[in-house]
Amino acid sequence: MTSPTPIAVLASGRGSNLAALIAARRAGRLAVDFALVASDKAAAPALRRAEAEGIATLALDPQGYPDRRSYDLALFERVAASGAGLIVLAGFMRVLDAAALAPWAGRMINLHPSLLPKYRGLHTHRRVLEAGDAEHGASVHFVTPELDGGPLIAQVRMPVQAGDSAESLAARLQPLEHRLLVACVAALATGQVVWRDGGVEAGGQRLRAPLRLAVDGSLQPA
Ligand code: GRF
Repeated sequence: MTSPTPIAVLASGRGSNLAALIAARRAGRLAVDFALVASDKAAAPALRRAEAEGIATLALDPQGYPDRRSYDLALFERVAASGAGLIVLAGFMRVLDAAALAPWAGRMINLHPSLLPKYRGLHTHRRVLEAGDAEHGASVHFVTPELDGGPLIAQVRMPVQAGDSAESLAARLQPLEHRLLVACVAALATGQVVWRDGGVEAGGQRLRAPLRLAVDGSLQPA
């Protein structure tokens, strides 16, 4: 049996995705150890969730640093010191510095609430409605210096319904995001999905399109 992958989760807010990861691990569906939960916001509920689980936490305030790079370098130094081999950005609301990211290439993933490459950045639910899209969803991708632009690992899709608001879309997408993130972290932890040569391989094959989350929670070829 291989040992669990030590992960760090970075979150700025609620931490419902962190909670989903914790629940999956407890249920024996996720072979990870939580090395650290870190936030740029000392008041983030995500930190309280982690503390309640006995997970090591770090609140690092960007105000104490002269620029983005020095903050990110300090943050990732602490993450590395925790022993984490994989960083999961789950609602971490900061743009990251390219030089600070470089050592983590292929070892950092982000959850984004849109069907990338559509709607990078903020306000994705509102933008889906403004565009009149029939479909919305969430993506998990490897992090590169390009904001929300790294190689896609997997997506989950859902229909937009008549009368949907940004709030109703967010509420319906949230449980799907949780399942998508758990499935992706599990796939990375088991080596089913790997980063190779700047791209994604799943089951030994280079991905041409992101995997999709099936109803049973598994990741399937598109
Ligand atoms: C999620 O909607 C995620 O897609 C976005 O930020 C939100 C984080 O939610 N990047 P939570 O803090 O995990 O509840």
